[in-house]
Amino acid sequence: MGLPKVFVTRTIPREAQEILSSVSEIEIWPKETKPPQEVMIKKASECIGFFTTIEDQINYEVLESGKDSLQIVSNYAVGYDNFDINLATKYGIIMCNTPDVLSKTTADLAFGLMISLARNIVKGDKFVRAGNWTHWHPSTLLGYDVHGMNLLVVGLGRIGAEVCRRAFGFNMDLSYYSRTQKPDLENELGLKFIPNFDEAISKADFISIHTSLTAETNHLFGKEQFEIMKENAIIVNTARGPIIDMESLYIALVNKQIAGAALDVTEPEPLNMNHPLLSLENFVVTPHIGSASIETRKKMAIAAAKNIEAFLLNKTIPSRINI
Ligand code: NAP
Ligand code: GLV
Repeated sequence: MGLPKVFVTRTIPREAQEILSSVSEIEIWPKETKPPQEVMIKKASECIGFFTTIEDQINYEVLESGKDSLQIVSNYAVGYDNFDINLATKYGIIMCNTPDVLSKTTADLAFGLMISLARNIVKGDKFVRAGNWTHWHPSTLLGYDVHGMNLLVVGLGRIGAEVCRRAFGFNMDLSYYSRTQKPDLENELGLKFIPNFDEAISKADFISIHTSLTAETNHLFGKEQFEIMKENAIIVNTARGPIIDMESLYIALVNKQIAGAALDVTEPEPLNMNHPLLSLENFVVTPHIGSASIETRKKMAIAAAKNIEAFLLNKTIPSRINI
C-alpha cells in the first residue's frame, strides 16, 4: 500500500516539504494562484490531508466531497476564517493552524504601519520621488508623535500582546478592549482594560486591531464607530479585512472624521486598483504581509507540516483547532 496522499495548495519551503514527504505522498499545486474550487473538491475526495493557505476556502462543497477521505487540514496561517469549522467537526475532520510562531513578526508590521502613517514615511518617499524635495521647510510633512500617545488594542491575544510590548517601549499609554480580561498582561505592561467598546474607541489616538474574524467582529468598525473616534485617531488593521467596513472607512477618511488608516488586510483582497481608498493621502496599505518574513514563513510552514506529520504518525498534534 502506498503512502497517504496530501495536497499542498502552494509551493512551500523545502524544510516543510521534507517533513511531509517523510510520511506522505505529496502533490504540490504548481501555480502562483490558488487552486480553483473544482480542483479543491476533487482533491478532497482523493487525499487524507490538505496543507492550505488563507485563500483556500474549506467550505461546504470541499468538505462534502472530502467527508469519506479527508482527515486533516492544516492552514499555513494562524487565522482560520477560511474554514467551516462546524462542518469539519461534524465530519470528524481535524483542522489545524500555526499560532505563536508569527506573532512577533505580525506585531512588527502593525507597529511599522502605525509609525509609517503617523510620521508620513510613505508620503515622504512619494514626495521625494516626485521631485518635490526642492528645499527644506520646517512645516514640510508634519505628522503625529507615536511615543507617549495612547494606543488601544482591540483583541488582546497573542499578536495584540506583542504589539503592546512594542508600544510599552515607546512609552505609550496602553489600553485594550477584548473578549477576556488579561490581568497578567495588565500587570506586565500597565494595560488598562476598557470593557465598553464605544468608550474605548472614543478615547484612543491609535487603534490596532487584532481580533480574529467572526460573526461578532465582522464590520466591528463602521459608520457609528468612526463618528465617535477622535479626529486625530489613526486605525491600523493587520487582522482581517472585513473587521472594518471599507465604505464607512472611506467616508470617515474623506470627511477627516479620523486622521488616517493603515491596512495590511482589506475587503476584498486583493484590493481593486480602482478602489477609492487608493486615492487618499491619509491611507496606507500593504498586501497582507503581516507574517511575511523569510524566517517566520519557514517556521509557519514547518509548523503546518508538523501538524500533518503528527497526525499520520498517530502522535499529539501540536496545533489543532477543533476535535
Ligand atoms: P488570538 O491569540 O486568538 O487573538 C485574538 C484575540 O481576539 C483574542 O484575545 C480573543 O479573545 C479576541 N477576540 C475574539 N473575538 C472577539 C470579540 N468578539 N471581541 C473582542 N475580542 C475578541 O489570535 P492571534 O494569534 O493574536 O491572531 C489574531 C488574528 O490576526 C488572526 O485571527 C488572523 O486573522 C490575524 N493575522 C493576520 C496576519 C497578517 O498577515 N496580517 C498574520 C497573523 C494573524 P480571547 O482572549 O477571549 O480568545
Ligand atoms: C495570516 O493572515 C494568518 O492568519 O496567519
